[in-house]
Amino acid sequence: MIRTGSIVRVRNLVKEQKSGSKEIGLVPTMGSLHDGHLSLIRKARRECDYVVLSIFVNPAQFSPAEDFDIYPRDLKSDLRLAHNEGVDLVFTPSVQTMYPKDYSSYVILEKITEILEGAIRPTHFRGVTTIVAKLFNIIQPDSAYFGQKDAQQLAVINTMVRELNYPIKIVRCPTVRDKRGLALSSRHQYLTPPQLKEAAGIYCALVEGVALIKSGVSDFGRIRRRIIDVLSNYGLKRIDYVSFNQWDSLLPVRKPGGKILISLAVRLGKVRLIDNIILDA
Ligand code: PAF
Repeated sequence: MIRTGSIVRVRNLVKEQKSGSKEIGLVPTMGSLHDGHLSLIRKARRECDYVVLSIFVNPAQFSPAEDFDIYPRDLKSDLRLAHNEGVDLVFTPSVQTMYPKDYSSYVILEKITEILEGAIRPTHFRGVTTIVAKLFNIIQPDSAYFGQKDAQQLAVINTMVRELNYPIKIVRCPTVRDKRGLALSSRHQYLTPPQLKEAAGIYCALVEGVALIKSGVSDFGRIRRRIIDVLSNYGLKRIDYVSFNQWDSLLPVRKPGGKILISLAVRLGKVRLIDNIILDA
């Protein structure tokens, strides 16, 4: 496994592989790897000849009030895990490499980034699309792997790839959950054991929503109220949103039919937790 922070070196290494007609898979991450990331790497490993893992805590997707400075970082452990999973190349650029002094180019998608997470974190997706576009331009993968856990991020990247004509296949990978159903996240490190217990209510609430839709309930106001009840029963009362959107346009859903994204965000201690389920209704 090779590790480099140099854009020129990454380009050369990937070019060498491409000249041998190798399929390149990219797994973009911010490090602090957990089983969710490992599932993306494993899928890329199964489907591609050459797997590139990027590790970069991207300042552009954090607002000044967010946790960039204290975001969990553990490069030593990440490199060990990447090596064990058979990653070929780890790209670990510095902030200075990705955003040199006086950096000024950003990729901005309208509408789809202005709702849900984007309504609460207005500069977040501009940071995500900019860094992902940069990684795509540097690495030029055939496929890129993203977790469904960040469903809106995935929908935004699908839109960017389609509208900016990137010849890259975006692979949606299922959310990995712990035994209580809690979707894995690097930010769980901030939660205490009692808070982790409360957080288990998130998945129960989503499952309840799915069950109601599957049983034929079509009143989304009623389904939302039931989801909020379940969250409250677990002590989760600081709810940012519970939303029903068409997958993957994220247009609002008025009645059952097609693929529906049920997503929610709650605050627990200092952490915001998001989760979702996509169902065929
Ligand atoms: O999902 C993440 O970890 C990040 O948003 C990503 C896609 C690596 C961009 O920084």
